[in-house]
Amino acid sequence: MTSRVQNPIQNRLWLLSFSTSSSSSLCNSVSLKKTRFTNRTRFTNRSLFGKRMSWSSSRRNLYCTCSTSRGSTMDSNTSPSSGRQNAEPFVITTPLYYVNAPPHMGSAYTTVAADAIARFQRLLGNKVVFITGTDEHGEKIATAAAACGCSPAEHCNVVSQAYRTLWRDLGIAYDKFIRTTDPKHEAIVKEFYSKVLANGDIYRADYEGLYCVNCEEYKEEKELLDNNCCPIHLKPCVAKKEDNYFFALSKYEGFLGKMLSENPEFVQPSFRLNEVQSWITSGLRDFSISRASVDWGIEVPNDAKQTIYVWFDALVGYISALLNDGEQPNLQTAISSGWPTSLHLIGKDILRFHAVYWPAMLMSAGLQLPKMVFGHGFLTKDGNKMGKSLGNTLEPTDLVQRFGPDAVRYFFLKEVEFGSDGDYSESRFINTVNAHLANTIGNLLNRTLGLLKKNCQSTLAVDSAIAAEGNTFKDAVEMLVTKAKTHYETLALSSACEAVLEIGNAGNLYMNQQAPWSLFKQGGAASETAAKELVIVLEAMRIIAIVLSPVTPSLCLRIFNQLGYTEDQFDTITWSDAKWGGLKAGQVMAQPKPVFSRIENQIEDGNGGETVKQGSKEKENINQNKSPIEV
Ligand code: MSP
Repeated sequence: MTSRVQNPIQNRLWLLSFSTSSSSSLCNSVSLKKTRFTNRTRFTNRSLFGKRMSWSSSRRNLYCTCSTSRGSTMDSNTSPSSGRQNAEPFVITTPLYYVNAPPHMGSAYTTVAADAIARFQRLLGNKVVFITGTDEHGEKIATAAAACGCSPAEHCNVVSQAYRTLWRDLGIAYDKFIRTTDPKHEAIVKEFYSKVLANGDIYRADYEGLYCVNCEEYKEEKELLDNNCCPIHLKPCVAKKEDNYFFALSKYEGFLGKMLSENPEFVQPSFRLNEVQSWITSGLRDFSISRASVDWGIEVPNDAKQTIYVWFDALVGYISALLNDGEQPNLQTAISSGWPTSLHLIGKDILRFHAVYWPAMLMSAGLQLPKMVFGHGFLTKDGNKMGKSLGNTLEPTDLVQRFGPDAVRYFFLKEVEFGSDGDYSESRFINTVNAHLANTIGNLLNRTLGLLKKNCQSTLAVDSAIAAEGNTFKDAVEMLVTKAKTHYETLALSSACEAVLEIGNAGNLYMNQQAPWSLFKQGGAASETAAKELVIVLEAMRIIAIVLSPVTPSLCLRIFNQLGYTEDQFDTITWSDAKWGGLKAGQVMAQPKPVFSRIENQIEDGNGGETVKQGSKEKENINQNKSPIEV
């Protein structure tokens, strides 16, 4: 019988004693004593990541420290929004991607989002560790390698490299790339396994069930569609019977339930919490963590006939990734470089592994729990989940080559509400990036610089702070910058983009209302006013370049260059530079050059080739929204 802890109280340490350490019967015989220590730790929770949970265990005892911040003293060290400098790093992870096939847009999506969040945290001045990598063991990978006639290791090298290449092309600035075939990772997995074993949570048993190779998971019949088809991959599961090692997940049912009720923000978005809670309340079954029939994997310690189950192996990759070059591969060393993670970013299909299995495994190994797991939605094509096994993928490499990294990053982060599903269509993609990046932002910058060149020798006449004294447009920009910050902090990435776009829209409106081109024609004092208005609009562009830089870093660098700054200056910007007043009198702008070229609609010609269609309906619609240009 699993015991549940009643009476949640903040800042406590429970001592839970198990009545037996016999591994096979442990899960059925947990009794509980509790001891309370108040104020053992204090944490803060200003944004989403301010809570930490730690568990330590031994064969007979499980200690859990759960600390909530409500009512506790604010401690800037754990709040990413309030300056983490010299404090613990902000550690963010993507899933480690299967290498059965090259990356598709669905997997790139998580990584683009993680990169934007990591870049935002760096802008805040926080030390960031951004982890990504590849999950290379298991039946699925071995089968894929066999199908292309190469060894699993060769196959993994090729596909893992394809991920790295795509991350480079998409401008992903990761800090650590972990491959689960790395010998250092193997050492850490074995140590982790041994800790869980020593805690009495691994036992041996026969298992018979229906297995989905694509999910790498046994399924319960009630979850399946007709013909025992997996609801995610729409392929039949196969019957399997094996003698395996099991992890005593059921033992952690009560602890997981308690942890979630005390730390509901552990699962994000909040609407996914119910689902996780219902898995727990409907009863957790122990799961098999080894495979007798799969050679391509890490050997179970002391049993060369079995390999460790891919998920038990890959999840530990989040820890082994923290090892620095040249360090001894052991858990203690890895953990001291940043564990626990601030945020595991994943797709909703792998929430159970991250919000149930993984915390239980960590509790068993006596390690702290991650602060948050965020399950985003699916990218769909024609309403179906896009995926390798369904064969309806969207080629990210192709998208990047045709449209560039900024367009790809912006479209998916702006147009898909982070957490919900979102559909891709090429016409929507082109319309969005043309309207927002080429017109609202790019064209505003270009025409302002054109006017400045023609009338002011590309030189700013006055400090932007002085130019905007008492100016309501400046107030609006400041308000939108604050809004964008809050949205980034709460991972509302689409809303953050929207706030930046609103600055662009307000800038276009301001420009049209002030009409500096007419003022220049009047000459005298009117010309001086016109020169001042250009400084105001360019200052807004400078701010846009900072605030949008987590989403479209190369576009923002080009904007910075147009404003007369160097790449080094761009690389050292921080969020505080988004305060109004950065542009000073005398600053010389670069020669006006479009920072984002409009994408022309491409349509298939009768012979299957592609032709560029000029002046399409969609393009005309966008142009109607364009503000008048008079340079
Ligand atoms: N190897 C595991 C993860 C182990 S993490 C320790 C895995 N790999 S995966 O390559 O199949 O999927 C990786 C991620 O891509 C998952 O978060 C999944 O949700 C995401 N996506 C796969 N297809 C997707 C879409 N169509 N849309 C959005 N994300 C999707 O699972």
